[in-house]
Amino acid sequence: MDYGVQTTILKIMQQLKTWWKEEVIYQIYPRSFKDSNGDGIGDLQGIISKLDYLKNLGVDIIWLSPIYKSPNDDNGYDISDYYDIHPEFGTMADFDELLAGLHSRGMKLIMDLVVNHTSDEHEWFQDAKRSKDSKYRDYYIWKDGKDGKEPNNWPSFFGGSAWKYNEATDDYYLHLFTEKQPDLNWENPAVRDSICDILKFWLDKGINGFRMDVIPLISKRLEFADAQYDMLNEIIEHVYSNGPKVHTYINEMYERVLKNYDIMTVGEGPGINTEVGLKYVGHDRGELNMIFHLDHMFLGHGEFGKFDPVPYDWSDVKRIFSDWDEAMGDSGWISIFLDNHDFPRLVSRFGNDEDYRKKSAKLLATMVLTLRGTPCIYQGSELGMTNVHFDSIDDYKDVETHNFHEEFKKKGVSTEEFLKLVHENGRDNVRTPMQWNAEKHAGFTDGEPWIKVNPNYTEINAEAAIAEGRGSILEFYKMMLEFRKRNKTFIYGSFEIIPQESKNLFFYKRSDENDTFIVMLNHSDEEEMVDFDMSDYIFVVSNQEYGKVNILQPWEARILKLRKD
Ligand code: NOJ
Repeated sequence: MDYGVQTTILKIMQQLKTWWKEEVIYQIYPRSFKDSNGDGIGDLQGIISKLDYLKNLGVDIIWLSPIYKSPNDDNGYDISDYYDIHPEFGTMADFDELLAGLHSRGMKLIMDLVVNHTSDEHEWFQDAKRSKDSKYRDYYIWKDGKDGKEPNNWPSFFGGSAWKYNEATDDYYLHLFTEKQPDLNWENPAVRDSICDILKFWLDKGINGFRMDVIPLISKRLEFADAQYDMLNEIIEHVYSNGPKVHTYINEMYERVLKNYDIMTVGEGPGINTEVGLKYVGHDRGELNMIFHLDHMFLGHGEFGKFDPVPYDWSDVKRIFSDWDEAMGDSGWISIFLDNHDFPRLVSRFGNDEDYRKKSAKLLATMVLTLRGTPCIYQGSELGMTNVHFDSIDDYKDVETHNFHEEFKKKGVSTEEFLKLVHENGRDNVRTPMQWNAEKHAGFTDGEPWIKVNPNYTEINAEAAIAEGRGSILEFYKMMLEFRKRNKTFIYGSFEIIPQESKNLFFYKRSDENDTFIVMLNHSDEEEMVDFDMSDYIFVVSNQEYGKVNILQPWEARILKLRKD
C-alpha cells in the first residue's frame, strides 16, 4: 500500500475511539477561580487547593486560560513571555505541582496557546517597533498608511481600527484585537519556528494539549483589501478567518510537533462554518482534533457585534447543533459548550436565571453532556452561576467593554443604556469570582477581589450546593458526568434529530449497537405536550420529579432508554 494512504488510515484509526472524545473538559479562568495569597487574584496554588473538588465533580481535562507573563491588557490573552508564568499566578514550580496534582488524580491539563498575536510588550515587538532594520521586524505585519490614514478599513474585534500608527517607523501595524495585541506574521518561517519551539517546551513538560486561540485567523489575506461587509461577523468569516494558508500552517505544527505526542488540540473557531469545518478537524487531515465553533455564540449579534443585539430564538440554536452534527458525521469532531470566558453565563443566556434557574441549568447540562462532541464546562456552570448586573461602569474590568463604551459614547449612547447591553452580553458576566461559600467575597479571596463578586453568592455557592446534596445543580452535573461515562452511546453513538412542531422542544436520538436513548428537552417556561410513543422506553434521567408522562413541565429534561426485552 502507498505510504501516504497508510499514514492517512493510521491517522483515522487513531481518532475513531480515543480519550479526548470520552473525557470532559472543564475551563478554568485562573484570575477568577481561587486566590491563595490574598492579593485578590486567583492563582495556581488556589487551583491546586481545589483539585479534589474538580476530581469529585467528575471532569477530566482542565483547560487553563492563559497563565503566561502578560501585561494583562486582555487578561492574559496578550502574552509577553511564553516561557514563564505570570507572577500574579505563581511560579513554574507551582505550575509543575499543579500538573503533577492533576496527573496523580488521573486528570489532564491543556494550555491556552495564543499565537495569532503577542503582547506589544513581548521582546519581539519591543525590538520590531524600534526600527525597520530590527531582526524581529518581520515577526509582525506592517503597512504604510493611505492618504495619511490607516492602510484599510479593517475594524478591530474590540472597536476602532485594526491598525495602529508607529511613529518610529512611520507606518502601521496590524492588531485584530487591542492595540496592545499586535498580530504575528505567520508568513515568516522564523515566526513558525518560534511557535514550534513554544509548543515543544510545554509538551515536553507533560501537558496534554492545547486550546488554540483564534486559530483560523493566523493566515492573512495579503492583499489587505478593504472589507466589503457591514456585519462584524461577516468580516470575521470572510476577511479575517480561513485565510489562504491557514491549513498549511496548522498542518505544519502538526507534522513538526503535535503528532509526536498523545495529546488533544481544540481550536477556537471564529469564522469557521459548517462548510469548512472538516478542513480543520477531519480525521484524515493532520490538523486539529476538534474546534469550538462559535455559531451559537454569535447568535443575536448585530452589525457591530455583541453590543448590538438582534432577536433570535431557540430554533436557531437547534438548527446550529443539528447542522454541525451533520457536517461532522463520523469524519470529524467538535466540542459542545454553551458558554466560556467570552460569553454570558449559559443559564442567563439560554435558560431562565430567575424563576427556573435550577431546572434550566440542569436542562442545559443535560444538553451539553448528551450531544455528540466533547463537552466543555465553564467554571461555575455546575453551580448555576448567573450574569452580574453592576450599576457602575467602573465595576467592569474588561477592555472590550471599556473600548465599546467609549465608542458608544461618541455615538451618543448614554452609559446607562450601554450598561444594559453589558448586563446581557459583557464578558465580565462570566469573569466574576467563583462562588465557593457564603463568606466574605464568596470565599474566593481574603483580600480585595480584582473584580467584584456577584452579590448572589450568599445563595449560589459551592458549599450551599454540597450541603443541599440531591437536588442541587452540582449533584446533577456529577450524576450526568457519570452517566455519560457509563454510556458510551453518548460518545460514539449516532445522532438523529426527532423533529418537533414546537420550537421549544429539542428531541434527539443517540444510538449504537448496544443502546438507544431519546433526549427530550423543553426549553421554555410553558408545559409542552409530548408527541412521541414512549411505550418501548424506560425513563432513566430527569431534571425534576416525574409528572405526567405525556407532558413536559417547563424546562424539563428527560432521557429515555429503549427496552431490550
Ligand atoms: C479569543 C479569546 O477567547 C478572548 O478572550 C481574547 O480576547 C481574544 N481571543 C484575543 O486573544
